Amino acid sequence: MSYNKYYSEWAYNPLSFWDEKAKDVSWIEPYKKTLHKTDNYYEWFHQGKLNTCYNCVDKHVENGKSDKVAIIYDSPITNTKKKVTYGQLLKQVSSLAASLNNIGVKKGDRVILYMPMIPEVIISMLACARIGAIHSVVFGGFAAEELASRISDVLPKVIISASCGLEPKRIIDYKKILNKALSLTSHKPIKQIIYQREQYLCKLTSENDISWNEFVDNSFSINCVPVDSNDPLYILHTSGTTGIPKGIVRTNGGHAVALLNSMKMTYDISEDDIFWAASDVGWVVGHSYIVYAPLLLGCSTVLYEGKPVGTPDAGQFWRVISEYKVKTMFTAPTAIRAIKKEDADGQELKKYDLSKLQYIFLAGERADPESIKWTMEMTKKPVIDHWWQTETGWSIAGNFPQFGLFDIMYGSTGKAAPGFQVNVLNDKGEKLAPENMGNLVIKLPLPPGCSSEIWNNKNRFYEAYLKKFDGYYDTSDAGIIDKNGYISVMSRTDDIINCAGHRLSTGSIEEILTQHQDVAECAVVGFNDELKGQVPIGLIVLSTSSMNSENTIIKETINLVREKLGPVASYKKSIVVENLPKTRSGKILRSTISKILNKEDYKVPATIEDINTLELIKCLKV
Ligand code: COA
Ligand code: AMP
Repeated sequence: MSYNKYYSEWAYNPLSFWDEKAKDVSWIEPYKKTLHKTDNYYEWFHQGKLNTCYNCVDKHVENGKSDKVAIIYDSPITNTKKKVTYGQLLKQVSSLAASLNNIGVKKGDRVILYMPMIPEVIISMLACARIGAIHSVVFGGFAAEELASRISDVLPKVIISASCGLEPKRIIDYKKILNKALSLTSHKPIKQIIYQREQYLCKLTSENDISWNEFVDNSFSINCVPVDSNDPLYILHTSGTTGIPKGIVRTNGGHAVALLNSMKMTYDISEDDIFWAASDVGWVVGHSYIVYAPLLLGCSTVLYEGKPVGTPDAGQFWRVISEYKVKTMFTAPTAIRAIKKEDADGQELKKYDLSKLQYIFLAGERADPESIKWTMEMTKKPVIDHWWQTETGWSIAGNFPQFGLFDIMYGSTGKAAPGFQVNVLNDKGEKLAPENMGNLVIKLPLPPGCSSEIWNNKNRFYEAYLKKFDGYYDTSDAGIIDKNGYISVMSRTDDIINCAGHRLSTGSIEEILTQHQDVAECAVVGFNDELKGQVPIGLIVLSTSSMNSENTIIKETINLVREKLGPVASYKKSIVVENLPKTRSGKILRSTISKILNKEDYKVPATIEDINTLELIKCLKV
């Protein structure tokens, strides 16, 4: 079937389309209604009962796939390779779930996972799903304060962590960060379960600390607890326009149906294939495509603990593909840029047999045509850019090999995925003709799998995404749709920047900078970076009372961001300026500042012609 026919089938009758897809999921009790709406809240597969862990693990074991490999763990950073079968996974997940249940963790309780890329993080996610507890994974590159703010938001009954994370040049003492985070919040979980890694054993200091090995009783097991389709499976925080991260809530039913469908529809994967998403479980891509989607399908997923370069070389991605016969891999353009920089003529790549690889998918940030062309030339495989958000949980647009790929257009993220109707609106909410740049929006209802709620704040979802354009979800991305339906995502419409595929709120960095006693005001903007796409840089105005040298203040502000937000922010540059360019009403002209610093064409907005243009130029000259 062609893409057009498939898309039309969905558009003609979305509910029957999704009913058909829902048959691939095992339900404990059938749902009563395909789509149920209350106010601005959409619920797919209303009142159905299921268990996501059952669908990811037990079901495959019951179907005779106990010896099939579920997880391929490959860690060049520790020189470890390990395979976990579905049968082994079931035992380990069930024992942890039972042990959690024994200390009182039950359906609806939250469990924070602050863990590196080891099989135990997947086991923990599934164990929570098994007993209906809601997991909330926190990325390892965040600082203690960020971890603390997530603890305060979700109030976990238990935290599961590890003794350390491993970065190429250093060991990250997770326990120290966790201890600090706990000292910053008044919430006290009943247990901190710590997986001790042999590379670094930490001290268990609090009376609530317990090692994973001591905690998990392997003789215990527990059956899957039925949960409602609309019960949350997980909460994953992402950057919003304020300093307070948004806890995106993902519910069980729609998620299982959408992700299972996407494995075939988007990635052309079947049960016997090997799938690899080279991301981190701390991000949505890791949740959806390292863990849930491949396991829902019952194929084998690769869990890679390493970097595209430096662990130890630029050939590791190709090694993994060749060693495990990966059919479809998924990474961020920044990883490709890193590899290309170190291995421009593909010497490393040529060492490996990539014959089983069929597709490379990219997402997370705008893919520059040069990187796509280089990868296609080197690997002779199609490189497919597809558009994603934490909120949607699966790709909004792409190119769908299952139907025969349509022509790849550099700079475009392909056409809308069946399930999504994407439009371009101007700021007044009027539809724009093809080829015009505007707000990329999705017509409601969003398909199964997409979030409809922010944890602890139902109204924030409406305020952030639904209020601006009646009847549409506002993606906060700006872009163009051409006359053939190709979508190009050009930039964000809010203050989010994309650094190495990670989403950062410049507002939250500004909040940190202004905590420095010598900073009177500041503006943080994205600065173009060859490797990471964008990195944040801060313009700071010093308070008149400041007695410290500029160099000291610059160093301190850089350290402050690292300490409070984390190294993942890649905040390496503060620039001292005398003033910040502002509108008459006092609004800082961030996008103009960004253009000036990036040496792009800029205009002083007409509405503020009295702005002192020299002030802007001064920034450029610093
Ligand atoms: N735990 C602790 N620290 C972490 C971390 C983690 N899980 N992940 C990153 N960090 C730290 C790094 O050590 C680095 O610290 P440093 O400033 O002391 O060097 C900092 O955060 C920035 O890390 P990173 O963004 O990984 O940059 P890098 O310069 O080390 O590596 C790339 C550059 C391109 C190789 C790397 O960014 C990369 O692999 N990007 C792909 C990202 C990705 O897959 N995103 C998917 C989203 S879909
Ligand atoms: P995150 O929620 O962290 O996955 O970030 C989502 C944001 O990343 C989107 O809103 C886009 O701004 C950007 N993004 C993701 N995928 C793409 C892509 N393929 N092309 C351009 N931008 C993308």
